[in-house]
Amino acid sequence: MTALVHSRDDLAGARAAMTGTVGVVMTMGALHEGHRALLRAAREQSDHVIATIFVNPLQFGPNEDFDRYPRTLDADLAICAEAGVDLVFAPDRAEMYPSGEPMVRVNPGPLGERLEGASRPGFFHGVLTVVLKLLQVTRPHLAFFGEKDYQQLTLVRRMVRDLDVPVRIVGVPTVREPDGLALSSRNRYLAPAERQAAQTLSAALRAGVEAAAQGRDAEAVARATFDSDTAKLDYLLLTDPDLGPAPAEGPGRLLVAAWVGSTRLIDNAAVEVVAAA
Ligand code: PAF
Repeated sequence: MTALVHSRDDLAGARAAMTGTVGVVMTMGALHEGHRALLRAAREQSDHVIATIFVNPLQFGPNEDFDRYPRTLDADLAICAEAGVDLVFAPDRAEMYPSGEPMVRVNPGPLGERLEGASRPGFFHGVLTVVLKLLQVTRPHLAFFGEKDYQQLTLVRRMVRDLDVPVRIVGVPTVREPDGLALSSRNRYLAPAERQAAQTLSAALRAGVEAAAQGRDAEAVARATFDSDTAKLDYLLLTDPDLGPAPAEGPGRLLVAAWVGSTRLIDNAAVEVVAAA
């Protein structure tokens, strides 16, 4: 049975009754197969699973999609029940931010200003602040985040390390449509032609991954594969696994962000860079 609570007090009561390990999956709702994979991992690795559903206003810019972000609580609860979630915490804005906009926020540091942070100023301040708050109120042993939001995952790991937060962060691989498109709650904004065009992100990544393995320039090949006629590239970058400078050899990460119509999509893939002969 999945219990639903909206207040911190009810959450605290339910959490206190949990014995054994607790895993949390934080979401903004509009759950899809990618979230199901997170919930599955949490179910497999923890005794109790808490899912949080909260569309966090702090991580949306003034011209972003906060108002139209899909809110599908009943469908989300059905998915949580099916996935064996023990407890859903779905607070409203006043419950999460009782004093209004928080004056003190988590500063993500320089990594928070690059890539997504460069296009979405303040985004990671908002993400890390709510993640830290949700960690405080759910007190999990494990917290599961998707690799799809790779910079978010990297920064959450970093925050937990730098601020001594007692939780283990578990990254869960991206779930994709058969044509390669990474699952995202924002995919539902795409019109049919845009949905078709959106494949170019994963196609570019696949080409880059293959090129890297052959000792060719992954970033250049991915760029050449990206179809700029149907999507507008924001960034496409090869980094090391911690989002530092591109490696000459060994593991790396290829990241892409692009606009398809008015929808901004991101994706990334692990690469193994083979040094050019
Ligand atoms: O990845 C998300 O859905 C959000 O950024 C998160 C982690 C739930 C924080 O609002």
